[in-house]
Amino acid sequence: MRVRRCWHLLCEPVQTLQLDVAALFSGAGQPLLNALCQWQALAAHLDGPIVVDAQQLELLGNLDRSCWTNLQALPDTARQLFEAGLLLAEDDVRPCAMRDLQLRQAHWWGPAAVLHAQSRWSAQDSVQQLAEQGLDRLDGLIATLGTPPPSGAASTGAVQLPPVTESTLEKLLERRVSCRNFDGQQWLDLADFSSVLWAGLAERAAVEHVSGARFAKKGSPSAGGLHPVETYLLVRNVRGIDDGLYHYQAEGHRMVPLGSGVVAGTDWQAMASRWLAGQYWFANAQVLVVMAPRYDRLQWKYRNHSKAYRAAILDVGHQSQTLYLAATQAGLGAFVTAAINECDVEQDLGLQPFGDGPLAIAGFGVRAAQMHIAELDPAGAIWQPGGE
Ligand SMILES: Cc1cc2nc3c(=O)[nH]c(=O)nc-3n(C[C@H](O)[C@H](O)[C@H](O)COP(=O)(O)O)c2cc1C
Repeated sequence: MRVRRCWHLLCEPVQTLQLDVAALFSGAGQPLLNALCQWQALAAHLDGPIVVDAQQLELLGNLDRSCWTNLQALPDTARQLFEAGLLLAEDDVRPCAMRDLQLRQAHWWGPAAVLHAQSRWSAQDSVQQLAEQGLDRLDGLIATLGTPPPSGAASTGAVQLPPVTESTLEKLLERRVSCRNFDGQQWLDLADFSSVLWAGLAERAAVEHVSGARFAKKGSPSAGGLHPVETYLLVRNVRGIDDGLYHYQAEGHRMVPLGSGVVAGTDWQAMASRWLAGQYWFANAQVLVVMAPRYDRLQWKYRNHSKAYRAAILDVGHQSQTLYLAATQAGLGAFVTAAINECDVEQDLGLQPFGDGPLAIAGFGVRAAQMHIAELDPAGAIWQPGGE
C-alpha cells in the first residue's frame, strides 16, 4: 500500500494536568498533579485532534504530502498514523480521505482550514455545558472568572465630541436589542418576512463584466464584492409559506424549498434546537437564517490567502447586522449566534464543510409579550424596567 501525508496539518504541543494517584496515596507530601506534555496533530480533514509521539511527529514532518511512499518501507508506527487518518492511501475511500482530496483541489490557507475544521461542533449542548460550569448566569461568570477587562481606553486627554441629533438611524439603533424571547406561536406576516430578507440579504443590483463574472450590490459590504455568503432558512409560522427548509436566492429575492432529504413529519423545533446547540431562547424564532459562505467563490480571488477566512467571517457579521436592523425596523426581534452545531446543519442541509459550511445562524421573529430570558436592554428600549 502506498501512502502520503494529508494536505493541511498543524502540530501543537499541549500540556494537561494529570492526577498522580501514587503520590495521592503515598502521603509523602509530593505534588499531586503531573504535567503531561504531548503533541497533537490538528488536520483540516479530521474533526478532532490526534495525539502523536515524537517518532510519529518526525515521520509526519519528513513524509511528502504529494508523492506516494510504500507503507512497508516506513517504521511500524506509520500504520497507526494511517489508521488515524493522518496518512492516506492511494485507493482510500474513507470519508476523511475524500475530504482530503477536496482540500487538495481547493485554495484554503492551511491554518484557516484547520481552524475551520476543528472549531465545528456536532451534537453539542452548549447550554448544559455552561450550566454545569456555573457560567450560564452573570453572577456565576463573575464568581468564577472575576470581572472582565474594561472595554475602552483610559480617558485622560479625551476630546469630547458634540452630541448627535436625533435621526431615523439613531432611533433604529436604539431599538436594536438581541432577542431571546420569541413567541413562536404567533404568525409572522409575509410582508414583514419579505422586507427583512430583502433589506438583509437581497441583491439590489448587479454588474456583469463578462458572462459569468457577476458582482452583486447588497445592503451589506462584502470582501472583494464577491458576496460569498449563501443563506438557508428554517421557516415556521410565516403566513402563506409552508414550514420547512429553503435556500434564499439573493438574485430575484426568491426562496427554493429544499424538499429532498427532508423526512415527512420532521420536528422543526427539535431541528432548530439541535442547530442552535440547545439555545432554546432562539429556537422559537419564526425564521432561522443559516449563513454559509461559498468558500470557492471567495478563494477564486483570495487563493491560499491568510485573510480569506477572516473576510468570510466579517461578511457574515455584516449581513447579520443588516438583518438585525431590518428586523428591528419591522418591529421584530433578531439574533445571531456562532454557538451552533455546524456538523448537524451541514448534514440536514447537504452542505460540505469546506465547500459551503456554515459559520453562524441569525434569526428573526415575533417578540414575546414577556421577558423570560435576560436581554441587554439597559435603556428600556424594548422592555420596561423591571423585566417586562
Ligand atoms: C458574533 C456574535 C455571537 C453571539 N452569540 C450569541 C450566543 O451564542 N448566544 C446568545 O444568547 N447571544 C449571542 N450573541 C448576542 C450577544 O450576546 C449580544 O449581542 C450582546 O449581549 C449585546 O446585546 P445586544 O445585541 O442586545 O446589544 C452573539 C452576538 C454576536 C455578535
